[in-house]
Amino acid sequence: MTQPIKISVAKGDGIGPEIMDAVLRIFDAAKVTLDYEFIEMGKTYFEQGFGTGMTPAAKESLEHNGILFKGPMETPKGKGMKSINVTARKTWSTYANRRHFQSLPGVETVFSRAGIPIDITIVRENIEGTYGGIEHLNTNDVAICRRIISRPGSEQVIRFAFEMARKEGFSKVTCAHKANIMKLTDGMFLETFQRIAQEYPEIISNDIIVDDLAMRLVDRPQEFEVVVLTNLQGDIMSDLCAGLVGGLGFAPSANVGDNISIFEAVHGTAPDITGKGIANPTSLLLSGLMMLRFLGFVKQAADIENALRYTLEQGMHTGDFGDKSIPSIGTEAFASAIIANLGQKPRLSKPREAVEGVALFTKPIAPLKQKMMKAPDNAVKKIVGVDFFIESELLGSEIADKIQPHLASNQKLIMISNRGTMVWPSGSLFTECVDHYRVRVEGEMSQPEIFDFLSKLSSQFYIPSHEVLRTYDDRAGFSLAQGQ
Ligand code: NAI
Repeated sequence: MTQPIKISVAKGDGIGPEIMDAVLRIFDAAKVTLDYEFIEMGKTYFEQGFGTGMTPAAKESLEHNGILFKGPMETPKGKGMKSINVTARKTWSTYANRRHFQSLPGVETVFSRAGIPIDITIVRENIEGTYGGIEHLNTNDVAICRRIISRPGSEQVIRFAFEMARKEGFSKVTCAHKANIMKLTDGMFLETFQRIAQEYPEIISNDIIVDDLAMRLVDRPQEFEVVVLTNLQGDIMSDLCAGLVGGLGFAPSANVGDNISIFEAVHGTAPDITGKGIANPTSLLLSGLMMLRFLGFVKQAADIENALRYTLEQGMHTGDFGDKSIPSIGTEAFASAIIANLGQKPRLSKPREAVEGVALFTKPIAPLKQKMMKAPDNAVKKIVGVDFFIESELLGSEIADKIQPHLASNQKLIMISNRGTMVWPSGSLFTECVDHYRVRVEGEMSQPEIFDFLSKLSSQFYIPSHEVLRTYDDRAGFSLAQGQ
């Protein structure tokens, strides 16, 4: 007999243990033969002095097993602690956040009342973007955040979306972006999408500006099947979709990587109802079903989902949703009802079939070193100047006067911008400024020459940061300022 698959389970904080116990009881009743290793992770472990919110044994368990099934967790506030949830997703390279939003019986929404069924899967890049958490207070008045988009990172998540579509029978994948404004970052994401889409000719691919997506999701959600997005945009659109199907309590989430994957409920620890036995276990259960499919328990996942839908059709509900004329039941009773209904099929919607998940799980093999991901790169690169930021309350023309004398004959002051809008050599007196300017100098410069130049200027200006201007073949690796 083959060994059961061992997974790491962290029950979490607040309502976490209540909903996790309920879900594991449903798994047992459906004959899911997983071996659970319960690990120490969450608020208590921050309080015990573990800066990452987990014990070394918990980390070891997870890195060995490759699967974490987790309840919601609380990160202590105001102590400089990074969110345990975000850290976990990033540390273990779970690059694709997959969330499924579907209309469920008994969960009334404006769309269910209008008879419009919703079935949307959002695939959100889970590591990069503004979630790099790279922020600096450049001046007392100006904070900046670096938004990192990488070609290999984009490729990973976009390929995941197409593979999922191919394996699970989706017909369309949409890329949402803001490449009309962020031409280099979102431009790279879109370009990668268009390149990878060519490898999946049987799948319809299209793209949409993210604000248009927001409107269309509310207006015509049935137009979308799979939507792939960068991190923050995906975060926001995921919650919008949760709203379409009745709230976060019905939105499961899988964080999938090549080695480690994390399955969790998307709601928080619900401190206001903790210990009352009334929490809704549906989000964690649906996340668990994604995990079961991922691990190959496709029949059990279909059985449980059919039993859940049947139970909802009977009008059974916890206090946070459902028909108020039918009395609500607690977490345990709701789980027991699903267990009693195992073997039943929903009548009002198509029963779920045992469909294989996107990736069949393989246990991680501990790498000897961190992996360097690199896209093919034959471009001829050339430094053509520098953008640098200065703290100053002077006018653009006054700044220009101070910089010009330091330029070599082959270097030229191109423009000065404030909050991305050009204020020198031309601009409008109506442009309102803050004490943080970007100065662009172009010309032949080596890296040491750039540092020498900035070093000279540093006696006159505080220079919090600079960016080298580089071309890749004939392509500028920098954006123009508005008005340039
Ligand atoms: P929350 O999701 O915990 O609660 C918001 C509201 O939804 C509350 O009224 C709560 O009672 C209700 N609610 C949430 N889940 C429910 C469930 N399963 N059944 C019935 N009602 C439910 O959000 P909040 O209050 O902003 O955050 C509380 C804590 O959770 C914070 O410490 C936060 O950092 C953490 N959190 C953790 C997450 C995770 O582990 N993935 C995600 C979001 C928040």
